[in-house]
Amino acid sequence: MEVTPELDADLLDKVTNLAKRRGFIFPSAEIYGGFRSTYDYGPLGVNMLRNVKQAWWRSMVQTRHDIVGLDAAIMGPPAVWAASGHLETFTDPLVDCLVCKERWREDKIDGVCPNCGSTKFTAPRAFNLMFKTQAGPVEGEGSTAYLRPETAQGIFTNFANVLATTRKKPPFGIAQVGKSFRNEITPQNFVFRTREFEQMEMEYFIPPDSAEEWYRYWIDARFNWYLDLGIPEALLRKHEHAQEDLSHYSRGTTDIEFFYPWGWDELEGVANRGDYDLTQHAKHSGVALDYFDQATNERYTPYVIEPAAGATRAMLAFLLAAYHEDEVEGETRSVLRLDWRLAPYHVAVLPLSKKPELEGVSTEVLNSLQPHFMCDYDVTQSIGRRYRRQDEVGTPYCVTIDFETLNDRAVTVRDRDTTAQVRVPIAELTHHFWNLTATS
Ligand code: GAP
Repeated sequence: MEVTPELDADLLDKVTNLAKRRGFIFPSAEIYGGFRSTYDYGPLGVNMLRNVKQAWWRSMVQTRHDIVGLDAAIMGPPAVWAASGHLETFTDPLVDCLVCKERWREDKIDGVCPNCGSTKFTAPRAFNLMFKTQAGPVEGEGSTAYLRPETAQGIFTNFANVLATTRKKPPFGIAQVGKSFRNEITPQNFVFRTREFEQMEMEYFIPPDSAEEWYRYWIDARFNWYLDLGIPEALLRKHEHAQEDLSHYSRGTTDIEFFYPWGWDELEGVANRGDYDLTQHAKHSGVALDYFDQATNERYTPYVIEPAAGATRAMLAFLLAAYHEDEVEGETRSVLRLDWRLAPYHVAVLPLSKKPELEGVSTEVLNSLQPHFMCDYDVTQSIGRRYRRQDEVGTPYCVTIDFETLNDRAVTVRDRDTTAQVRVPIAELTHHFWNLTATS
């Protein structure tokens, strides 16, 4: 039986505040009052978001021989979105409250206006979520362009190019990480649902008769990716969509859900897209998008299994899962127990004192670590305060340089989670961290 974890109603506020205060995520255009649930990633956030994407790329592309990468354009012509079905069906049901005039997504409000409590609404209208723009200086039909609402279509339109240039054959995949845009009616919950966000998607092309097997394979592989990067199993579950809830292209979708402070909600979707996309693009473009199997002398349109994750949404889940408060030396500390692969800084180099005697050796230590690890360097305030600051942003290791270092050429390494300290010779420091981080 599934045990529902306990809700911490304050957790989202705590993480949102920490993210702002410590330079992970800022409201965009804040000096102008902010801009419609849009966010900027600060000095620590940009490191962490890159780490999330790098961990995904490593598991999907670097460590596999059957998946290649792609970086397609964000802007595209209407023809792509006509073929994909997005022009016609990528809509949410929009209703207006008849009392306070607020606009809502009908399927998210249970018939009651979250603003004023009214139950009177206009009839729902289909609202297309794509951002429309214009490419070139002349307005008109010929210059209409759309910002992609998913990275997937750039993969399908390049299917023949990738096949021709890589000589891959099914089963094989094409992976892509990048920005997507959706004119969400109600963006909400910090970076959970925003209008501009980053996706990490992979389209896995397979012989049709192996679709079920690969569908199950990718659901498990993606579930395990989150576990491996430190999300506790109790905060993750799989949710298979009912047939009537499937997107226009899907023959089966399973969401990997995370237990957010507002309850279970989507983290990633794994879909069996069948041959929908390749068939549609072949029909609309007139270019054959199929595969000729020389072994069996058969030509077929591959099916596609798609694990589609959000990088920005995953970062939020990693932050929420990592946030803890515990007691160290009689004081409450907040600590992000992030896997070292995701942490904005791997190591903080902390000279015990600002005195000039320690400067030379501290710089030497920093210079020796920086080519291998993302490092912070902090000389201000007491060492205790500096440890807390690093704990709060998830830095797994602190290196303290003290006056004894000048004699024994060794430093103190402190572990974020256990707060245990060990003395390590400077000459062995890089190897020491390589060993600590070599497990994965
Ligand atoms: N190509 C399939 C596709 O785009 P999706 O379930 O609509 O499927 C995949 O999106 C993932 O992208 C979601 O599971 C979520 O992690 C992320 N995502 C979607 N819309 C988002 C939004 N408005 N803000 C942040 N992340 C979003």
